[in-house]
Formats: sequence, structure tokens, C-alpha cells
Amino acid sequence: MSGEQLIYIDGELVPKSEAKISVLDHGLLYGDGVFEGIRCYNGVVFKLKEHIDRLYRSAKVIKLEIPMTKEEIIRAVIETLKANGLKEAYIRLIVTRGIGDLGLDPRKCSRPSVIIIAERLEPILGKIAREKGVKVIVSSVRRDPVYATSHEVKSLNYLNSILAKLEAINANVDDAIMLDSRGYVSEASAANLFIVKDQSLITPPVTAGILPGITRAFVMELARSMNIPVFERDITLVELLTSDEVFLTGTGAEIVPVVMINGIKIGDGVPGKITKLLIEEFDKRKTQPSEGVPII
Ligand SMILES: Cc1ncc(COP(=O)(O)O)c(C=O)c1O
Repeated sequence: MSGEQLIYIDGELVPKSEAKISVLDHGLLYGDGVFEGIRCYNGVVFKLKEHIDRLYRSAKVIKLEIPMTKEEIIRAVIETLKANGLKEAYIRLIVTRGIGDLGLDPRKCSRPSVIIIAERLEPILGKIAREKGVKVIVSSVRRDPVYATSHEVKSLNYLNSILAKLEAINANVDDAIMLDSRGYVSEASAANLFIVKDQSLITPPVTAGILPGITRAFVMELARSMNIPVFERDITLVELLTSDEVFLTGTGAEIVPVVMINGIKIGDGVPGKITKLLIEEFDKRKTQPSEGVPII
């Protein structure tokens, strides 16, 4: 496709330079809204239905009524990809609370806005990250607890993650791992976390303040199909630092090995065997039509 990128806003595809929302939208004023980050691989929108189900779950908790059906959103995502001639893409699907006044009251907001942005994007932590692994720190910022701004809701409020990311940037490393309010391992700034111990996978449960990631669920399914045992349970900091392998999962990051935490080598300080096997399997399965919704 030549010409300007087209962005979907409330039923219309508009050129990027004209794609705007009001300064009185509560998505901007208060981070009041929900979103999804989705990928399209070789013309198949990976786990699109799962992403849309999560979007509706997030919206339900904040009493945000999405002004479209799930089917209509699926069609709008496909339409946006087609209009931009994209078969490989990162898709950002956003529902804002809509235009209100300067008070918090969401009832004053007339109508939520639905925005879809699709563009090309390399794996978020970089192509070489998956081959060489990344270095991270453990952030001093704790994950928002499940009894507060829980990350079970994928909301437009990402300051908790941004504070951790700023700490990582300041420490000159790639990302930050956050502990939950109790001090157990939670997740990275925008990715879930797995450790490998004695040939088994362990990942923190939802009660540790994580976003229940769609890539996380897929990796658990892949591991089980490869006869690798998977456990969801709390992980202590010492367990994390002494594990055989650590890796992160997310739509943006895909699967990224972690080779150093707080200056301490994980395993041999290179991507581990099980992590590499899972990356291989993930690459094989992610483009299969059965794993998503094909563009037709
Ligand atoms: C805080 C957080 N955790 C985990 C993830 C990974 O979730 P998923 O695999 O659904 O992309 C994300 C993705 O954006 C995230 O923002």
C-alpha cells in the first residue's frame, strides 16, 4: 500500500495525520479506558477472539459499555488491516470512556470511542533479544495489587509499568521485573514471566498481580503438548535468581530469554535449552490459521 496509514476511529478509516480524539476524552484525562495489543502473522490475526474476550472482560469491570458487538470489532480489525495492506502487523485496539467534563464521573461521558491502529512492528525488545537474551533489574516499584488497580484489567492506566520501565532505563538494562504487593515475583513491565527449574515451567498466578497474558496461556499449552510440566504458583526472589532459565512472554515481546537479573547470571548467562525449544515451537504454531482469525 502507498500513501498514509489509515486508522480506524468510530466506524471510519482516517489518515494518520487526521486521526484525533478530543482533549476531553476521559481516556486522556484519566486513563479511563481499556485496550488490547494483538499481532497478525502471515495474514492470520493471532488469538483475535481471545483478545476480544479479554477486552470485554476488562470493560465489564470498569462498567464501560463497548458500543460494538464482538463480531463487529473482529470485522473492524480485519477491515483496518486490509485498508493498510498489512499481513504482518501489530494491532492496537483501544476503547476510551469518551468525551466528558473535567470531573471523574464516567456517567457524564456520552459515548466510548473505538480506535484501531495497525502497523508493522518488530519484536518489542528487538530481534537480537530473542537470540542473545535480555538483562533486567528487579524494580523497586511493586505491581499494583489485585485489590487496587489490578492488572487483570488491561486498562489505559500504565503508570505502574512506566515507573518500572524508567527504573530499567536508568539502570541501563532492557526491562524491569516487578514484585507483587507481598514481595513475590509478578511480571515484567509489559510481559509475563516464566522460570525453568528441574525441566519444569513455573509462572506466577493471577493473584500475584499479573495480566493474564494470552501469550502466557499459549506458551503453557505449547509446553504441555511438549510434555514439559507447567505450574502456576508463587515464586520468591531467591528462586528467580537461582532458576535454570527465565523468559518473558507477551504479544509485543513474543518469547524473550532473560540472561541476567540485578547483575546476576541466570543459569549459564545464555538463553536456555527449554526457552529455545519453546521459541521454535511458538514460531511454528503462530502462523497457523487454527490459532487465529484469517484475513478474508
Ligand atoms: C502488564 C502486561 N503483562 C503481560 C502482558 C502480556 O500479555 P499478552 O501475552 O496477552 O500480550 C502484557 C502485554 O501487553 C502487559 O502489558
